[in-house]
Amino acid sequence: VLATKTLSISTMANTSEENSGNLKKQLAKLFEASLRETVPSKHDVEPLVAACTAKFGDYQCNNAMSLWSKIKGKNTDFKGPPAVGQAIMKNLPPSEMIESCSVAGPGFVNVVLSKTWLAEKIQNMLVDGIDTWAPKFSIKRAVVDFSSPNIAKEMHVGHLRSTIIGDTLARMLEFSKVDVLRRNHVGDWGTQFGMLIEFLFEKFPNFEDVNERAIGDLQAFYKASKQRFDTDSAFKERAQKAVVCLQGGEPKYRQAWAQICDISRKEFDKVYQRLGVHLEEKGESFYNPFIPGLIEGLSNKGLVQESEGARVIFIEGINIPLIVVKSDGGYNYASTDLAALWYRLNEDKAEWIIYVTDVGQQQHFDMVFKAAKRAGWLPAGDCMFPKASHVGFGLVLGDDGKRFRTRATEVVRLVDLLDEAKTRSKAALVERGKAEEWTEEELEQTAEAIGYGAIKYADLKNNRLTNYTFNYDQMLNDKGNTAVYLLYAHARICSIIRKSGKDIEELKKTGVLVLAHPDERALGLHLLQFAETVEEACTNLLPNVLCEYLYNLSEYFTKFYSNCQVVGSAEETSRLLLCEATAVVMRKCFFLLGIVPVYKI
Ligand code: ARG
Repeated sequence: VLATKTLSISTMANTSEENSGNLKKQLAKLFEASLRETVPSKHDVEPLVAACTAKFGDYQCNNAMSLWSKIKGKNTDFKGPPAVGQAIMKNLPPSEMIESCSVAGPGFVNVVLSKTWLAEKIQNMLVDGIDTWAPKFSIKRAVVDFSSPNIAKEMHVGHLRSTIIGDTLARMLEFSKVDVLRRNHVGDWGTQFGMLIEFLFEKFPNFEDVNERAIGDLQAFYKASKQRFDTDSAFKERAQKAVVCLQGGEPKYRQAWAQICDISRKEFDKVYQRLGVHLEEKGESFYNPFIPGLIEGLSNKGLVQESEGARVIFIEGINIPLIVVKSDGGYNYASTDLAALWYRLNEDKAEWIIYVTDVGQQQHFDMVFKAAKRAGWLPAGDCMFPKASHVGFGLVLGDDGKRFRTRATEVVRLVDLLDEAKTRSKAALVERGKAEEWTEEELEQTAEAIGYGAIKYADLKNNRLTNYTFNYDQMLNDKGNTAVYLLYAHARICSIIRKSGKDIEELKKTGVLVLAHPDERALGLHLLQFAETVEEACTNLLPNVLCEYLYNLSEYFTKFYSNCQVVGSAEETSRLLLCEATAVVMRKCFFLLGIVPVYKI
């Protein structure tokens, strides 16, 4: 096995199964065998295989230098790293996938892959489906905790980012056959409910009649109740009592709480429905009953200490402790997250628990995870499963470089944001004359795919830790690295195939794909790098890696298409198959990014 110290592809992926799609891994297997042969005394050397940056080959093995430093001065016949490299090359087991090898500089072993083999692999994928290129992971179940807005408060662009990023991560894991629990950890518990419930009773003495129409805007309702809370001490007192009643489970209070949650939920669902995102709600309230027992268990282990009236867990290397019981005896965000983590490990039996929130919560999660390690719930090392990961992201900025808002002070209503993108993309389509060409339904669907796709892609293409500027003109531009450009590129490929008049399903069975021209080969190789790309994006929880791959794919295709005639050429069949393979891979990328593909434009 390929042992590593960090969480890498090899620790996560099941190496015993054949990874038919993953070039890097297949080469690593060959080099592993060679390394064992080359230096039998060092049988646990991990093969270091990477895509070539220079033109010497497609992949390279970088073990020679580090291996040399391990064996030099000891009983060895090698004269230096280049000689080690030569031996590694010589000892490679014969394989159909390799066309030629060479050793460069201080011992890099460069590999040129066989065109015939590459072509065959692509053709197999066309016949057997792209799922044969899915990564294979050793874990069975994961929790992705994402979106997670707070009841009665606004769902802001931060939650939109969490929803988009979390959905993609879930999709990539699901594609890799991991059972994913998509958890919406909504903020549905806490002291704000006291004032909300009390305000509800006041406004609607017959509160069973309450519905969203009566309340209207829940955010305004929140503001009004907060105002009352801050200015009227009698109200404040009643609100504080209401919290106790709610937490004590008094039916009338529970019912009012449930009604408020329900109104919020309907608002959230409008966003999820537009985005095509599915989530299962298990909010903070769900974990509440587990907290007392867990705190007691942690106290018995000697982990919980008294500090300024509160009960806390000290974490090595962090100067503030994790408060698990507030000085007033109540629980907080951290107590809930400890309970949720415990539940996910022990009841959900998840092996990887992924939290998608803004980077501002990084320390919170760091402390929760470290407390869980101290408690022995999680293994001490970072590379081992079960594992918890925080997926942080940066801010969304407006054109003024400040936190994104519509008007000067107001927060953005997410539904409006999505509708605007759709309206604009529809206008662009109408301008291109599509209103005459298409049915109203086609126009609507395409506008939606492009508008929502543009918002998602503009978010996902950046490294998630960086802030980005929200700009409709940029994201809806049909040139450059945008969803619009990519969706058009896909539609164009589909139209090439349609216009050929050939039955592509038939060609898959009878035709032969060859990669003769250098631009065909470059495109073919990139297609085959899909599997390792998804695996990397998934392992490092970085959707931008997949976006970059998709953008490059479309660039490779453009180069191929401008230099190689497809329809009407002698190579038509082969080239149509290459077009189809590109379209299939593009569509899978879109799917994993939560973008609906467009077939004609
Ligand atoms: N409700 C929180 C917020 O809006 C996010 C919750 C994230 N998940 C968690 N398990 N803490 O900031």
